[in-house]
Amino acid sequence: MAKLKLGILGSGKGSNFRSIADAIKVGALDAEVGVVISDVETAGILSLARERKMRAEFVAPGKFKTKLEPEAEERILTLLREAGVELVVLAGWMRMIKAPLLDAFPRRIINIHPSLLPAFPGLEAWKQALVAGATETGCTVHYVDTGMDTGEVLAQSRVPIFPSDTPEELHARIQNAEHELYPAVIGEFARGLK
Ligand code: GRF
Repeated sequence: MAKLKLGILGSGKGSNFRSIADAIKVGALDAEVGVVISDVETAGILSLARERKMRAEFVAPGKFKTKLEPEAEERILTLLREAGVELVVLAGWMRMIKAPLLDAFPRRIINIHPSLLPAFPGLEAWKQALVAGATETGCTVHYVDTGMDTGEVLAQSRVPIFPSDTPEELHARIQNAEHELYPAVIGEFARGLK
């Protein structure tokens, strides 16, 4: 049977991408990566993809900070289609996704966020949790919609917050949970359960 073809979009260091690629490599996740796309030319995620001999593409995002110019979104759509992508996986992607992409992949674009949504949407959610004095946080995999971190929740993983935690320590603990959760949820898509 054909493997589920993934398109990965990321703006950062790519540790979630690495966990997905590693899960595929060891046979724990029955999928394949069609293309990795970044809006940041120097992003670690592109280097990681190239090391693994995967197609890795930089797409210049245009002049906006939090969204893509229409030409950039069209280019991403073309790259995803060329690669035969069936599931779009946002892994540290820092821009809003709009109608053309959402319409092209209905319920086939997912994101991972470092909090137990709906708590602490937006940037640096682990810092938000610390400032709020929460004793627990976690990570959430959710469908992407037109809002920021508002789409339907697919799965969550809980992480304790200790009184001595620095933001860095808490973020690292959440990321460890992300690296387990994301490949597992993608596996549900690969098995046709979503
Ligand atoms: C993760 O913490 C994820 O929750 C958030 O962005 C971060 C990406 O990290 N959306 P990485 O690039 O996968 O290491």
